[in-house]
Amino acid sequence: MKKYILIAAAIAATTLGAGAAVAGDATKGGQTFREKGCWQCHGFEGQGGSAGPRLANTQLPEDALIAFVHNSNGPMPPFSEKLVSDAQLSDVYAYLQSRQKPADPKTIPLLQP
Ligand code: HEC
Repeated sequence: MKKYILIAAAIAATTLGAGAAVAGDATKGGQTFREKGCWQCHGFEGQGGSAGPRLANTQLPEDALIAFVHNSNGPMPPFSEKLVSDAQLSDVYAYLQSRQKPADPKTIPLLQP
C-alpha cells in the first residue's frame, strides 16, 4: 500500500509542479496555508483577495517567499519561524506552484473583440 502512495505522490509531484523542481509537499502546504490563515488575505487558492495579492504560481523564488513571510515589515504581518517554519513554507510554496494557472485571455471568447 505504502508503495502505491509513493508512486502516486511521485506522479502528482511531476504533473502538478508542471516539471518545476519543487521540493515541498503541496498537500501539506495547502493545510498550512489554511491553518495559518494565509487564505484570509490571499484567497483560499492563493488567487488573491481584497487584502492580499495573488500568490498562486508566484514568480518569486522559494527563498524569497520564505524570507518575505518571516520579515515582512509592510502591510502584511510577519510570521516568525516559531509561527511557521521554513519547512512548512517550502510546502506552502509547493502548494502555490501546484495551483491551476489562469487561462490565456486569448482563449476566452467573451474577451475577443
Ligand atoms: C492580514 C492579511 C495577510 C495575511 C494573514 C497574510 N498575508 Fe501575505 N501579504 C499581505 C499583503 C497586504 C501583502 C502585500 C505586502 C507588501 O507588498 O508589502 C502580502 C504579501 C505576501 C507575499 C509577497 C508577494 C509578492 O509577490 O511580493 C507573500 C509571499 C505572502 N504575502 C505570503 C503569505 C503567507 C505564506 C501567509 C501565511 C503564512 C500570508 N502571506 C498571510 C497580507 C497578508
